[in-house]
Order: sequence, then C-alpha cells, then structure tokens
Amino acid sequence: MVGKVYIVGAGPGDPDLLTLKALRAIEKADVVLYDRLVGDEIIEMLKRMGKELIYVGKNSDERGGRRQEEINELMLKLAKEGKIVVRLKGGDPFVFGRGGVEAEYLAEHGIPFEVIPGVSSINSVPASAGIPLTHPSLSSSILVVTGKDGVERWCESILNGTLVILMGRNNIKEICNRLIKAGRSPNTPIAVIENGTLKNQRVFFGTLKNIADIIEKEDLKGPTLIVVGDVVNVAKKINSVNPKIVSSL
Ligand SMILES: C[S@@+](CC[C@H](N)C(=O)[O-])C[C@H]1O[C@@H](n2cnc3c(N)ncnc32)[C@H](O)[C@@H]1O
Repeated sequence: MVGKVYIVGAGPGDPDLLTLKALRAIEKADVVLYDRLVGDEIIEMLKRMGKELIYVGKNSDERGGRRQEEINELMLKLAKEGKIVVRLKGGDPFVFGRGGVEAEYLAEHGIPFEVIPGVSSINSVPASAGIPLTHPSLSSSILVVTGKDGVERWCESILNGTLVILMGRNNIKEICNRLIKAGRSPNTPIAVIENGTLKNQRVFFGTLKNIADIIEKEDLKGPTLIVVGDVVNVAKKINSVNPKIVSSL
C-alpha cells in the first residue's frame, strides 16, 4: 500500500509558530525529511516525540539540481514503502521553498499528498521586528523578491511601497546601489533582520546609503530578511517605547 506525503510549512523558527495542522501531520508521520531553516527547537521537539528524522537541507549557496532530485526520489521511495512522510520546510512550503516542485513530482508519480501552509517569514519576521508591511500613510503595497539573483529584473520598477527581500544578505550592496540607481532615495529606511522570531533575533537599521557598511561589521550567520521602505521607521518608533516587541506568551 502506498503511503502519503505531507508537504508542511514549519514557520520561521519559533516552535510556537508551528500550526496545529502541522503538528497533527507530524504526530502521524513515520518519518520527517527536514530542511536547514526548520528551527532547532522544532527539531528537538521532534526528537523527543521519537520521530525518525532525515536531514535533506541544502547550504544557502547551493543550487537545486541533483540534490533536489535525490530528495524527490527519497520521498517517492518512502511513500512506496507505505510510510507517512512529512516533508518539513521553513516558513511556507510554497514561498521560495520548492514545495511546488515537490508537489509536481509527487503528482506525476501518483503519490497521494497534501500541502499544509506555514507562517511565512515574509510577514512574521518583519512583525517580530516591529515593522508593519503596510501602513495607511506610508505604504499601500508590498513587493517580495529573492535577493539571490536577477536583482536587475525587479529593481527597475520599484519606486514606492514596501519591498521584502529574502536571501539578499550577500548581495546587499548591489541591491542598494541598484535601487538608488532605479530612483529610490539613498535615505530610504532599510532593516536587516537576522534569526527573525527567534530568541537570538537581531535587527539592524540603516538607509540604502549606509546599511551595507553597517552589517559588514557584524557577523551575520543566521537567515536574514530585508525590509525597504518608510514603514521601517515605524519599528524604530515602536521599539523606542516597547523594545521587546516579540511576544513571549
Ligand atoms: C529559501 S527561503 C525560504 C522562505 C520560506 N519558505 C518562507 O516562507 O519564509 C529562505 C530565506 O527566508 C528568509 N528567512 C526565513 N526564516 C527567517 C528568519 N527566521 N529570520 C530571517 N529571515 C528568514 C531568509 O531570507 C532566508 O534566506
């Protein structure tokens, strides 16, 4: 009998941001294949639950290719053995997470699967740094892009609104320069948030002109998300009276 695959979003790292549906799928699972950005505390919890865990993460600088094929084949093999497989990914599986590629593969091979959306870093990480993505007087649009490649493709059209950039830390200098060239003011506020929603979250504020120099001095190793736009100043205001914006319920 063929098993089933659940493609599950684990949220941005904080275990309390795992959804109830994700937890139910994990409880049912015989085996969990997990990615690099699934929070350490979540992995500890899975170990305590006695789950079989297989790490299939890629390094941040690795591209898809062969590695993705191996992950696909492993899911297929386990499902064909009749196992309930949870494919656990950071954030939401369909946002820069190759969840779509894996769903297509499972569909092509006739494997039953379900997708369980997760809390994406897109909105949760800025919120945990006090940055509202929209604001009645500051921004009525949000553009989310990858900062890994194709910077020139999206830069030309961005003059207003909030810009959320995933995977942009290594290209931050080029991103800022291109945005300025495309017409955004060098004084536009920008925030770089490392390890968003986690206890070791750090937020760096600056402008398009100076943020690259600011973060160059810091040793940023965790996942980082960048927010560009006037809404960043709201966080500065909120944080000045309420420095611990991250809920600790
Ligand atoms: C491959 S993308 C995956 C996005 C994920 N599927 C989601 O919905 O959030 C990984 C990027 O998401 C961002 N990211 C994810 N979790 C984060 C966190 N806790 N803090 C800051 N950035 C995060 C970083 O830009 C990281 O390089």
